[in-house]
Amino acid sequence: MTTMASAVMALVCVSATLLLLMAAPQPPLYGSAAVLAGLIGGSLLLIAATALGTYWMMSRTLQPVRAISGKLATIRPSNLSERVPLPSHDDEFKELAQTTNQTLERAQAAIQEQLRFASDTSHDLRNPLAAMRTEIEEALMRREEIDWVDTADRLLESVERLQDLVTNLLEISRLDAGVIGQHDLLNLAVLVDGELDHRQSKVRVVRRFSSGVMVNGERIGLTRLLHNLMDNAERHARSTVMVTVEHRGDAPVLEVYDDGSGVPREQREVIFERFARLQDARAKDAGGSGLGLPIARQIAEDHGGTLTIEDSPSGARFVARFPRPAALAAGSR
Ligand SMILES: Nc1ncnc2c1ncn2[C@@H]1O[C@H](COP(=O)(O)OP(=O)(O)O)[C@@H](O)[C@H]1O
Ligand SMILES: [Mg+2]
Repeated sequence: MTTMASAVMALVCVSATLLLLMAAPQPPLYGSAAVLAGLIGGSLLLIAATALGTYWMMSRTLQPVRAISGKLATIRPSNLSERVPLPSHDDEFKELAQTTNQTLERAQAAIQEQLRFASDTSHDLRNPLAAMRTEIEEALMRREEIDWVDTADRLLESVERLQDLVTNLLEISRLDAGVIGQHDLLNLAVLVDGELDHRQSKVRVVRRFSSGVMVNGERIGLTRLLHNLMDNAERHARSTVMVTVEHRGDAPVLEVYDDGSGVPREQREVIFERFARLQDARAKDAGGSGLGLPIARQIAEDHGGTLTIEDSPSGARFVARFPRPAALAAGSR
């Protein structure tokens, strides 16, 4: 608007000048100093008015940006729940404010998750440490009559719990940091078979493997996934754990299932959350951390696969699906 007004004024001034020049006697052409001064003065005024108008208009237009950046400058980790103001008009600035708020929301969720994780971790570290402290204090109070070998055995249990927890925490931070080890084309059945040979199981472990099931993966990661599933299955099984490796369609699939009490349908996603342990497991083994399944799922997903629980006649049936290796897929085309 202001620019239009300035243009009209400029046109009027130029026309008036021309009229004056035409009306003036010949010569003097620019003879009058007063006319010349008026022209220069008018032009300067016009330029000043245009500049002021443009400045006013720009600052009005950019006002929402100032409001957004002013608010952003005050946001800290302690007040991440605050949001930038939304401009009233539906334009690019509103879009910018909405995107900024969505980013803040994601940052807030991530920080809250980290805080919850730190608090759960401290809690889990505190329990074995408190048990060790009590054990040592009691032993020292009755130092003459105490059986030090028994005491050492009980302390060792707590140390093992601490060690397991710290190992899991290290694994989680490695996975969260996206550290990716070397991926090789691996024969899944051979890998699983070899790992099961090294396990000492308290229950019967039945293996059913198809040949030629190849995955592109990190050996250490896949081994850990298998052991995490096996630890659980052996803990919960009544008598038998079944491990299968086969193709479903094109996809390599690893299954670990047991004949235990299973996982209720409504808890099947909950148990993949960090530190989640069901009552049944707490009763069976106080030492778990609730990190085994989240780690196993993250490993499967980092390989482009999935880890889920599926229905089975009895017990829990964990199914890890992997993508068909690209090299094989290309070869079969
Ligand atoms: N095979 C299974 N049968 C029944 N419940 C299971 C089985 N595997 C896992 N769960 C449940 O899932 C929970 C989480 O498992 P996990 O993350 O490995 O933690 P942890 O083994 O340390 O308890 C277990 O505490 C248990 O309640
Ligand atoms: Mg476990």
